[in-house]
Amino acid sequence: MAEDLNIAKGNKNEQYSSLIPQIAALLSGESDQIANMANVCAALKEQFNFLWVGFYMVKNNELVLGPFQGPVACTRIQRSKGVCGTSWDQSQTLIVPDVDSFPGHIACSSASKSEIVIPIIRNHKVIGVLDVDSAELNSFDDTDALYLSQILDLIQF
Ligand code: SME
Repeated sequence: MAEDLNIAKGNKNEQYSSLIPQIAALLSGESDQIANMANVCAALKEQFNFLWVGFYMVKNNELVLGPFQGPVACTRIQRSKGVCGTSWDQSQTLIVPDVDSFPGHIACSSASKSEIVIPIIRNHKVIGVLDVDSAELNSFDDTDALYLSQILDLIQF
C-alpha cells in the first residue's frame, strides 16, 4: 500500500489541516505506539522540514529518547532539566522562540534555534513529551501547540 504524504503548501493552518487527516489515516488500525510515534515524526519532518522532531518518554523517572527524525540527540534528560524536562515538570507546553535565552536549554544540536515541547498527559500524568526543533528563530506559536497536541491525541498511549 502506498503511503506517500501529500505535502501541502500555504500557511501553517493550511499545512496542519492537510497533514492531520493524513496522519489519522496512517495511524488508524495500528495500535503499536512505537510505529505510530515513528510515523508522526516522519510526517511532521516531511511536511515542515523541521530540524528535529522526536519523542522522549518517561522511564524510571527520567526522559528517554524515543522515535525521532533528525540529527542524533541526547538519550536521557532528567526531570526539570532543559526544555523537555521543564515541560514534564510543569505539565505544560513550552514555546521557546530563542533557545539561547532559555536557562538550562540542552543543546543536542548547535543548529537548533527555537523549540516547542508538548507534554503527553494520560491519566493526569506526563508519560512523555513531543519535542520539535527548528533551525530558525521564532518558528513556533500557539497554532503549532494546538495542532501538535491534536496530533498527539491520535496516538493511543
Ligand atoms: N533541547 C532539548 C533537548 C532535546 S534536543 O533538542 C533533541 C531540551 O532542552 O530539553
